[in-house]
Amino acid sequence: MSTPMHFYDVLIIGSGAAGMTLASQLTKNYDIAILSKDEPNEGSTYYAQGGIAAVLDEYDSMESHIEDTLDAGAGLCHREIVEFTVRRSPQIINWLVKKGVNFDKKPGASGANSFHLTKEGGHSHRRVLHAADATGREIALTLYDALDKYPNVSFFKQFVAVDLVKANDIGLKGNACLGAYVLNLESGDVELFRANHVILATGGASKVYLYTSNPDTASGDGIAMAWRAGCRVANLEFNQFHPTCLYHPEAKSFLISEALRGEGAKLVLPDGKRFMHHFDERAELAPRDIVARAIDHEMKRLGCDCVYLDISQKPSKFIKDHFPNIYARCAEFGIDITKAPIPIVPAAHYTCGGIVTDINGQTDVPNLYAIGESSFTGLHGANRMASNSLLECMVFASAAAENIMVKPKEKKDNLSVPKVPAWDDSQVTNSIEDVTISHNWDELRRFMWNYVGIVRTDKRLQRARRRVQLLQQEVSEYYSNYKINGDLVELRNLVTVADLIVQSAIRRKESRGLHFTLDYPEILKEARDTVLVPSNFG
Ligand code: FAD
Ligand code: SIN
Repeated sequence: MSTPMHFYDVLIIGSGAAGMTLASQLTKNYDIAILSKDEPNEGSTYYAQGGIAAVLDEYDSMESHIEDTLDAGAGLCHREIVEFTVRRSPQIINWLVKKGVNFDKKPGASGANSFHLTKEGGHSHRRVLHAADATGREIALTLYDALDKYPNVSFFKQFVAVDLVKANDIGLKGNACLGAYVLNLESGDVELFRANHVILATGGASKVYLYTSNPDTASGDGIAMAWRAGCRVANLEFNQFHPTCLYHPEAKSFLISEALRGEGAKLVLPDGKRFMHHFDERAELAPRDIVARAIDHEMKRLGCDCVYLDISQKPSKFIKDHFPNIYARCAEFGIDITKAPIPIVPAAHYTCGGIVTDINGQTDVPNLYAIGESSFTGLHGANRMASNSLLECMVFASAAAENIMVKPKEKKDNLSVPKVPAWDDSQVTNSIEDVTISHNWDELRRFMWNYVGIVRTDKRLQRARRRVQLLQQEVSEYYSNYKINGDLVELRNLVTVADLIVQSAIRRKESRGLHFTLDYPEILKEARDTVLVPSNFG
């Protein structure tokens, strides 16, 4: 029996904030497929806590949000992109509210400017809209419920995109993207999705590190697929470490939102003493790179396993009202945050670099867009400011949708020509050694954590490089000889992204933002992006 082929106007790989925003804007005229590796809402978006940054307060200004973003980005943000993003923030909030997203309001307030705004690191004003401490869940569920009603929008869950297909891959002229080969996890078959527009909205790559706040979906698949397809990638050395993740042997990946610090929580050492003021005058509300590095420094200095975040000086009702999920989750581990400090450690959180795009989300490959955390727009520079990510997802998803809509609409019926061959796995066998995949996963994530973490050196990076190269050989051999499965697809992508991160980190001979190296502690006068160009570029 031949494997199914699918034909759509628009193929969106990823159903987070970026993918669903784009789909929501194209529902009128387009047949859309949205893929997700797991359930549609399993991704970083669903777990976003703090909120989404926007200029809404009368005492705030666009200029202030722009300057804060540029400052957090340590001289590497692209100013025009920062302005483009920030100036669209009120429009995006308006759109979300119209869709039904329920942001928290000030007690007793109603009307347009009644939102409760919280504060996070790097922001000089209160400008973060939120739905308690589960903003991502509110956004994800609202967008999903609205989209699921459209007959022309099809969600394909447990469908893992493996590789993009381009015209020149099948002997045709040009390198336009024609679609993707996608592994159906249920049947084990690789199916072909053809589409006039293909969008990578696959999220970040923080799973490349042993300790991360991210869900399992964040394995950098879109970045690796785009690289193999001939797209440039940029600034991948800037992986953000969130300063405060719960430290508990059983608490896998649980973030303690920066909004706690915005509402007055203090970082303390095991002896209860504060320390952040020794590192930055903004203390707990300095940008994340500074706070994470300070914690790392103190943990190494004292040889302790964690430091603590203490919000217990606030009234118990305030804490439970503002942070109900964090309160409940910590309680499951026996920590009453209204009374006791929370043990925390930094963990990999956000991929600031990614697939190079223009202001419309268009990549180097015709018909291929990248949006959300998988993309590099130039917004975040060397360090993303808190709550600018959801905003970026929505601003650039909207820009990409507008760009698609102004293009002449091609007929979906024409997609069967040219004929793209079905996936061929006739030369490979079933793997008998799946355990190798999990060993390699573990090894990769461990050495990335040890050698390419918060503090780097040339020697550590070279060590990581040698290990990545070895793993690349092994994975490529495995990939050529055995039938693929979800774990192998992810491992292959993680190894590719790890290699790109290490290459980028080796190239940067300075310490800037999230990239801190003991060998080059100074910041260079000229700020430059690290752009990697694949051999099949252009
Ligand atoms: P995601 O939401 O990660 O979605 C990726 C999608 O791609 C998923 O559907 C996944 O299944 C799919 N996918 C991936 N690979 C494939 C493949 N090969 N085939 C098919 N599908 C694939 N940012 C803020 O601005 N404010 C916050 O408060 C905030 N809090 C955060 C808290 C946590 C715990 C985390 C982890 C992140 C937080 N962030 C926050 C960052 C922000 O949530 C993410 O950057 C953003 O949600 C990314 O959205 P996305 O649509 O790009 O990707
Ligand atoms: C948080 O709530 O601390 C996460 C915010 C973000 O990553 O932008």
